[in-house]
Amino acid sequence: MTTPDDDPGRVPEAPLPAAALAAAFARLPVGMAVIASDGRVVVMNHALVAMCGLGAGDARPTRVAQIAELLDVRDEDGALLPEGRSPVDVAAAGGRLDEAPMIVRAVGAAEARPVACAVTPIDDGDGWSGALLTIRDRPLAGADRAALEETQAALQVLVADRERVQAEERRRIARDLHDDLQQSLAALNMRLGMAEGALDHDSAEARQWLEESQRNVIEAAAATRRIIEDLRPQGLYHRPLVGALRDLIDSFSARTGVACDFAALPDAMPEPSEEVADCIYRIAQESLTNIAKHADATSVHMRLERTPAGTMRFSVIDDGRGLDVPTARYQPGSYGLLGMSERVRALSGEMRVTGSPGHGTTVEADIPSGAAAGGPS
Ligand SMILES: Nc1ncnc2c1ncn2[C@@H]1O[C@H](COP(=O)(O)OP(=O)(O)O)[C@@H](O)[C@H]1O
Ligand SMILES: [Mg+2]
Repeated sequence: MTTPDDDPGRVPEAPLPAAALAAAFARLPVGMAVIASDGRVVVMNHALVAMCGLGAGDARPTRVAQIAELLDVRDEDGALLPEGRSPVDVAAAGGRLDEAPMIVRAVGAAEARPVACAVTPIDDGDGWSGALLTIRDRPLAGADRAALEETQAALQVLVADRERVQAEERRRIARDLHDDLQQSLAALNMRLGMAEGALDHDSAEARQWLEESQRNVIEAAAATRRIIEDLRPQGLYHRPLVGALRDLIDSFSARTGVACDFAALPDAMPEPSEEVADCIYRIAQESLTNIAKHADATSVHMRLERTPAGTMRFSVIDDGRGLDVPTARYQPGSYGLLGMSERVRALSGEMRVTGSPGHGTTVEADIPSGAAAGGPS
């Protein structure tokens, strides 16, 4: 029988203290913990602390059960593991696990990572005295990797689109503030100065300046209202969506002479959540603006319904000159179509623009209707 001292590969030395082990593990990119047979966490390295969602100031787990509470471990397909099969449980029970593909997520966090987990029992000759748990990131292969890359690319486009749309919105608000509000206020200031100058010697002239000033105040108030409306559709504020859409289409029809009809199917109700209603109202506004600006249409059909899948479907169909979809969508300096689809996407919906030159345009959005905040009230 060989004793440790007979082992030619072994360099005799003092036993390694936990602190030395911890220092050695600290910077490894693999999550590691040494768990004693009594459930104590002897060492837990930085990578595993991070996987558990803990920050620099958070208390570290001292018992294996605490790791189990922080770390959600599932099988490769995202299914819960049977009782006692989680690598943390295996480590606590002194079992062995050869590199097994799993998915871990810090409890409460959104991001899950594919990993390989292993548990190696530590046997000091007197039976097991603990276990080494390792969790390392698993490179994705094949279809998983392609799907991930596709999602990442789509996400990048989404973020870029959103930033562009937001930057454009800010520019437009700044322009409106400057062109409308600031101009009216500057004119007001000038006219009040003239009124003050005329006050002592010509009260008729002073009165005239004051009257003009009043017109500036009315203009400034109207400009303020317009800018606020732009920020949040007041047409909708605290009103049911269907009524707001009806008013919008009536005033569009009266202004442009384009014949419009609006069908709201009875089961389009109950009222969608405020966010969804807001989004649909914006699509209606932008689509009607586009029709007035670009379509040269004679009629518009607007329709709000519920799909069998329970989502709201909103469509605006015109019989105007139509468009070439790819060109229209990425027209430099045009953010209307992009902004609409961005809003819809933000609500996990889907927007389609169809049409071809000479054959009218259809804008159609399917949006999960969401629960009306606080229920029907
Ligand atoms: N209903 C429509 N009929 C015809 N062309 C349209 C219609 N809606 C949009 N377009 C075309 O798509 C382009 C992009 O629209 P949009 O993104 O709203 O930007 P903008 O209206 O500022 O040009 C428009 O410039 C126009 O050429
Ligand atoms: Mg537009």
